Amino acid sequence: EKDGYASFMLKEIAEQPKAVADTLLGRIDGSGSLVLDEVRIPANVLREVDKVVIVACGTAFHAGLIAKYAIEHWTRIPCEVELASEFRYRDPILDQQTLVVAISQSGETMDTLMALRHAREQGAKVLAICNTNGSTIPRESDAVLYTHAGPEVAVASTKAFLTQLVACYLVALYLGQVRGTQWADEIRAVVRDLSSIGGAVERVLETMEPVRELARSLADKNTVLFLGRHVGYPVALEGALKLKELAYMHAEGFAAGELKHGPIALVEDDLPVVVVVPSPRGRSVLHDKLVSNIQEIRARGARTIVIAEEGDEAVVPYADHLIRVPVTPTLLQPLVATVPLQVFACELATARGNEVDQPRNLAKSVTVE
Ligand code: F6R
Repeated sequence: EKDGYASFMLKEIAEQPKAVADTLLGRIDGSGSLVLDEVRIPANVLREVDKVVIVACGTAFHAGLIAKYAIEHWTRIPCEVELASEFRYRDPILDQQTLVVAISQSGETMDTLMALRHAREQGAKVLAICNTNGSTIPRESDAVLYTHAGPEVAVASTKAFLTQLVACYLVALYLGQVRGTQWADEIRAVVRDLSSIGGAVERVLETMEPVRELARSLADKNTVLFLGRHVGYPVALEGALKLKELAYMHAEGFAAGELKHGPIALVEDDLPVVVVVPSPRGRSVLHDKLVSNIQEIRARGARTIVIAEEGDEAVVPYADHLIRVPVTPTLLQPLVATVPLQVFACELATARGNEVDQPRNLAKSVTVE
């Protein structure tokens, strides 16, 4: 039941801190090491993996795009991410040393199922990241890491996405751990940060009133653009997908570096553009480039909606609307930066009179190819 929330989607957005914590539960030991015995792929097999291929659809695909950064950074194993519906039609190169990761909330998505069957026929090992116990995708995989989001009822995926991200980070860190990479110290630090990430998501949820107000004020717009870089790019894609499916608006996510190669021509007076800004610490080059992008689009009339880390003062002069998220390690930022975009889409759709739990033309699990 909705527990007093106006929609399942709002309830599920609010459940995210717990969903994230539940997905970590029992998977990190007292010394900060990962315990993933449930992943029944032996360590010696994982040590031989020379390529990771992620297949998924929709929101789960966006989780996969983010996972690629984490896997390649912590393990230095090349990682590809592919839409499950495209995967088998291009005769992908797979063998016993390929680890295929299939991400699916429902565990019943036909495109993802067909992709994993194809991968296993080629001899690859398949690890499922799934939210539904005993569903088809985990049953047909070599191993499964369950997300513990609890049942997701709203058609638009929210808490499942955050837990898919957590599961992806766990897989990336675990691969790093069993292979003993040079990133051991960083891995330990990130595991610590992950343990407190539920609290960070909670803090974001407590500050969403201005986001709701902003969303209502944009209800009569036709287009919203989303920009990001690095892991913020898939966050931008996810923000755009949420807005399309719930508000039925034209919404597009771009890699901010691509702006100058075409999309900047779309910018016109009062066009809302959401920009996901990376942390000014760490990859500060990217941060500064994003700040320049914000200036460029604002000079052309865009209404800038900026998602930036607490304490990032450089964005302040160029943000028509500023949404703050807690300081997190670069790779974990999607866990906090996605939440305002979910709230934004949900509120905007409601303001347009749409039924957020049951968007038109969509089904919760897509069991046809
Ligand atoms: C978006 C959404 C869909 C699903 C996609 C995959 O909000 O819900 O894009 O993410 O259909 O579904 P699963 O994860 O069940 O395989």
